[in-house]
Amino acid sequence: MAVGAHVDLHLGNGCVRPYSVITALSSPKRYAVAVQRDAAGRGGAAWLHDSARVGQVLQIGAPRNHFAVAAGDGPVLLLAGGIGITPIYSMLEELERAGRAVRLHYWCRSPEHALFGAALQGRTGVSVHYSADGERACRLADALAAAPADAAIYCCGPARMLDELASLAAGRAVHVERFAPAPTAPAADAAPPDAYTVERARSQKRFTVQPRQTILEVLLAEGMDVLYSCGQGVRGACEVRVLDGVPVHADSVYAPADHARRWTMMICCSRSASPRLVLDL
Ligand code: FES
Repeated sequence: MAVGAHVDLHLGNGCVRPYSVITALSSPKRYAVAVQRDAAGRGGAAWLHDSARVGQVLQIGAPRNHFAVAAGDGPVLLLAGGIGITPIYSMLEELERAGRAVRLHYWCRSPEHALFGAALQGRTGVSVHYSADGERACRLADALAAAPADAAIYCCGPARMLDELASLAAGRAVHVERFAPAPTAPAADAAPPDAYTVERARSQKRFTVQPRQTILEVLLAEGMDVLYSCGQGVRGACEVRVLDGVPVHADSVYAPADHARRWTMMICCSRSASPRLVLDL
């Protein structure tokens, strides 16, 4: 499985949540994920920590990947914060195996909070920074300044880290994976507050989406079996091909230039700027 992939876990409390696969600990018969308890979360991690039992069978989705390492032989800078080390660690292993020049900076609270701490300790090209030490020994800006100008940058971590990176690395080749929507993601209600029609090309069925509804909500209310997980435009589970019409993208999965190439949309958050939208559903 390609590094950067994630799988959706269907939890016992009815939530569906995407988690990055730790490919270094996985096999064709086993997917390993790491789940951090988050007091401000929406209940997925809390259920896994408090209610999931050893041996309990959960449904999972097929792996999907919106955070793959691009082919090439140039240098790579990996940046991870907290639980964001999960996909980044797998990238490190793969890039090292491929003989690419790779540098990793990992920020976490303390040695006790460092996931893969033993494997990363003293490793060539790897620096682990502890925020519990007070002033961080290395700042994001320092890591960027020290990296080759042509390095491809991959970053996974908390929102404030990704936001800081966006402002520091404008114009550079940056790939990020978010746990929550980007603050710059256009709000779904930024679209004209008009109802519009969604047509399912495969079934020829039509639905009206009201200004405060999402396409996903309407399809689920109609009893359609559609793929989704985060419901926030972050992980891309609900990506659908657009066959006709003009979508207004409100997700954090793709940059605007990528959307222009892909002709897809995330139906959990994005809307239509045209009165009619035809989807490959
Ligand atoms: S359900 Fe996650 S992006 Fe839409």
